[in-house]
Amino acid sequence: MLSESPDPLLISSSPIPDYGSTERNNEMGRSSKPLSASNSSLSFAFSFGMRRIILIVALVLLLAVVLSSLITYLITRPPRAFNPETDREDSIPDVPDSSGPSAESLRLPKTLFPDNYRIQLKVHLPGYGATLSKERNLTADVDLTIKMIVKEATNEIVLNSKEFNFTDDSFAIEKKTREGHLATLNFIGLKVEKELEKVIVHTEGLTVGETIYLKVKYTARILDILGGLYASSYKDEAGNTKIMAMTQMEPTDARRMVPCFDEPSFKATWDVSVEHPVGTIALSNGMETGIIPTSSGWQLTTFKQTPKMSSYLLAVVVGDLSKTETTNSNGVLIRVWARHETVEDTRYALEAGSKVLAHYDHYFGIKFPLEKMDMVACPDFSAGAMENWGLVTYRETDLLYNSETYGMGEKQRVATVVAHELAHQWFGNLVTMEWWGDLWLNEGFATLVEYDGTDFISDKNYHMEEEFVRDALEGALAADSLPTSQPLSFKIDKSIEVNEAFNPISYDKGGSVLRMIRSVLGPAVFQEGLKVYLQKHSYANAAAADLWAALQVAADRHNIMGPRNSPLNLHHFASQWTTQMGFPLVSSRRVNGTFVEFSQQRYKSTNATQERLKYRTPQLGFKWDIPLWMTRGSGDVSELFWIDRDQPLLLPIPENQFFVMNIDSYGFYRTHYGEEGWKRMGTALADDHK
Ligand code: BES
Ligand code: ZN
Repeated sequence: MLSESPDPLLISSSPIPDYGSTERNNEMGRSSKPLSASNSSLSFAFSFGMRRIILIVALVLLLAVVLSSLITYLITRPPRAFNPETDREDSIPDVPDSSGPSAESLRLPKTLFPDNYRIQLKVHLPGYGATLSKERNLTADVDLTIKMIVKEATNEIVLNSKEFNFTDDSFAIEKKTREGHLATLNFIGLKVEKELEKVIVHTEGLTVGETIYLKVKYTARILDILGGLYASSYKDEAGNTKIMAMTQMEPTDARRMVPCFDEPSFKATWDVSVEHPVGTIALSNGMETGIIPTSSGWQLTTFKQTPKMSSYLLAVVVGDLSKTETTNSNGVLIRVWARHETVEDTRYALEAGSKVLAHYDHYFGIKFPLEKMDMVACPDFSAGAMENWGLVTYRETDLLYNSETYGMGEKQRVATVVAHELAHQWFGNLVTMEWWGDLWLNEGFATLVEYDGTDFISDKNYHMEEEFVRDALEGALAADSLPTSQPLSFKIDKSIEVNEAFNPISYDKGGSVLRMIRSVLGPAVFQEGLKVYLQKHSYANAAAADLWAALQVAADRHNIMGPRNSPLNLHHFASQWTTQMGFPLVSSRRVNGTFVEFSQQRYKSTNATQERLKYRTPQLGFKWDIPLWMTRGSGDVSELFWIDRDQPLLLPIPENQFFVMNIDSYGFYRTHYGEEGWKRMGTALADDHK
């Protein structure tokens, strides 16, 4: 989540000099001779002592003079002018980590496009039916074939890859000839760009339109970090340590298990198979198509090919797990997996998942395309949950529930997390953001929909619409009023910013701005636009502009009006909220007996620190077209007005009439009534609090 960058002043403080006090004492001790009984030596000792005292007094005086002039200088020196080009002490640094490569250099060329990955993993997991040698323990032997199409002539195959020990023998390259046969291509050499997390395979010239196959055989480590293919351990009921292997790829850790095109827009199908010890089960995105014994203590599970998907959604789980299962009303098999001792606690998630998945089929107007949905409770997990297509992984506390050990809050949390991750199966998995700078599309959308999903799961028991205001909206307003904030859509300059994008702005502001747009359009028109968007970009990628275009189709069908008394232009309206950080404060001011003026200014919770230079002067000048929901008198009806970005709004409101702005908190702004207005509201509430 959003973290504040450390103050550069604190980091760069100079080391404290060591005055070596013990050394100095030793020095003096050595220079003073021991006193002897003789006269001459006594007078010598005396005069030597006097000289030493005079020397010390002189030194002390000198020190006092130096110190006092230093203090006088520090107090009286003129303040240094702030230079925005060079000085950053009072602003958030543009790039949180200025070391490391730029985002540009980390991108893959567009010369080749993956079509299919065929990957077989042999997972050496200790503690089960297979005998393993020490060196094989916690490794995976990988046999990979990537089928690619040549888009631009090249003689390099560039893939993302992290921390593998490839040798020249690891690789073989083939191409499909015109006659449809396979011909071997020359492997010329290998270059590992460690810092860029890339491997470059040099081959002979490839021509546009050719289909080529890169075959790689290598050993991957099962990691002890919570990313890539990693080991998770726990104690079973008998107190024995058990190990399972699982994956967490988002955003950029697929490359730790498999060299691949690890960017969201390189979508391809995956054929996965896993050889694993007897005594474990293996899961992946697709449904199992077969389980066959291989050698003694080993078995091979094969999985159905995935739809075209981004690499960050790839998932594999191997472990000794139990499950509960059901088939939902739309025929999808739902299974929830956990350690044996907690399997009874999976029942609530099973019910929640099966209900909400069918609800989303209906809401999005597209049926869930896989035949099964697995949800797994994982003992070691970095995030709360991860939406891998067809194989969603969870932290145990976000999936398991029973009414004896857990409270209502935990039950609600399970429903919310399930509703969030299953919403991603459409928004994120079926249609994926083009690049991480639009991560908010994924996460903001799932945040918005998780509330409806949870209401559906709980038959509206949790009043999630009200929770949204407290959880998401308030959190977003708080985060976005700080100088550390950022626009929803932003350019990623450094690779580290990919991770930083998982913050309250993407989630909570993303959800809140989408909710404001939904309230302007009305829920039915919004849903209609979403269907257009999902249909159009299924199995592909989209940017924010594509969402606005799809919502525009629905808005036009229903003649939705916007600011300046014109039909709503979604792109124009929405991008004011997504391309500049911050939000407005809407203030009301009585102008005369008839009119009240509503004006805007940017809301900031502090002026002490400046925002990042790159966000400081947005083209749109921190002005917004604002949908102003207004309730006048004692009526329950909320009317929608618009405050234009370039001028205040004047509304006729009689002097004795009471009004409330943004009563349902649909708008992403704060409101202020002025002293007189607040007083009036206080009196009105004291008269009749309803
Ligand atoms: N896609 C994220 C998981 C994720 C987070 C991956 C950060 C990589 C980095 C997932 O959909 C998510 O948002 N999970 C939330 C839970 C949700 C209910 C808000 C989480 O992990 O906190
Ligand atoms: Zn999410």
